Amino acid sequence: MTTFKATAQASPNIALIKYWGNRDQELRLPANPSLSMNLAGLTTTTTVEFDPALKQDVLILGGSEIKGKGLERVSRFLDQVRRQTSEVLKTSEVSHLFARVESRNNFPSGAGLASSASGFAALAVAASAAAGLDLNEAELSRLARLGSGSACRSVPGGFVEWTLGSDDRSSYAYSIASADHWDLRDIVALIDVEHKAVGSTEGHAVAATSPLQAARVATAPERLAQARSALLARDFAALADVVELDSLMMHAVMITSAPVLMYWQPSTIAVMQAVRQWRLNGLAACTTIDAGPNVHVICTAAAADEVALRLRVIPGVRRVLTAGVGGPAQLIPDTHLRSIAGVKSAGYNLDTHH
Ligand code: PMV
Repeated sequence: MTTFKATAQASPNIALIKYWGNRDQELRLPANPSLSMNLAGLTTTTTVEFDPALKQDVLILGGSEIKGKGLERVSRFLDQVRRQTSEVLKTSEVSHLFARVESRNNFPSGAGLASSASGFAALAVAASAAAGLDLNEAELSRLARLGSGSACRSVPGGFVEWTLGSDDRSSYAYSIASADHWDLRDIVALIDVEHKAVGSTEGHAVAATSPLQAARVATAPERLAQARSALLARDFAALADVVELDSLMMHAVMITSAPVLMYWQPSTIAVMQAVRQWRLNGLAACTTIDAGPNVHVICTAAAADEVALRLRVIPGVRRVLTAGVGGPAQLIPDTHLRSIAGVKSAGYNLDTHH
């Protein structure tokens, strides 16, 4: 009997040049191009099975069944896969089947790390393979984009650029350098959270209400070109300046949107100021912040231990997590599944000591 089942794994990514705001909210066509690096060792592992016995899609995250909005978002994503299946494989029965999606992160949930990027990248790879679609990397990246914009950047490996594109077909991400091009690290300072933040999907929708968004979008390609050159030349000083500027410009937009999106906590600012001072004193480190209070400190491998040590003693930093540069999303053969279940990869370490 044919089974329609597959498992895939993907890593989250941290944007060095940020994506904020959509030209098309439904298709998640971005207002500006962006650049990121995948985070090694942090993984989402997702199994998808289309099953004739199911009466609706089922979503299990970290062992718990999810209903409501979370399930609806995944179901809408699976509808895209079912639609593609009926278009491409004319006779496929998958187009009429519901699926069971089981997904697990190996990094702590509630740590405020974006899991939608690794989540939808793994889901795109697993669901399309389970459905019998044979998609190439660009097609998988496009598909992942429909679930979460930044997920398209978690499909290719290493350092990744997401082109603006002019439509659904042309907006996808590709690798500009492999993971071994430059041993950069992302040392994440996890900050105590007081309020629940507004999610990025809602955030993109209000980006254009800020009068600063037009200026940010107009100048993003220039910053991206600078970051790309610095990355390819392994010029940390040049990369650091543009990465910090770009993150600050995104937060300037967020802070001046209606409603105001103020993701920073006092400790977020303390970390940003400390890292700027460290850099002035010669440490190769810079900060970038997503839609939350945590600070991602990007640094060279040589600076990583020192950065982690110093971050741990800043008041309000709850934990420090270190990741290297990660590879692409990939299918996991069934035979490998038992050996990876519940086992943490060696690619990151989570330090809970202060
Ligand atoms: O993919 P989304 O919709 O969760 O948006 C991600 C937005 C940021 O993380 C703030 C920036 C980025 O480019 O990843």
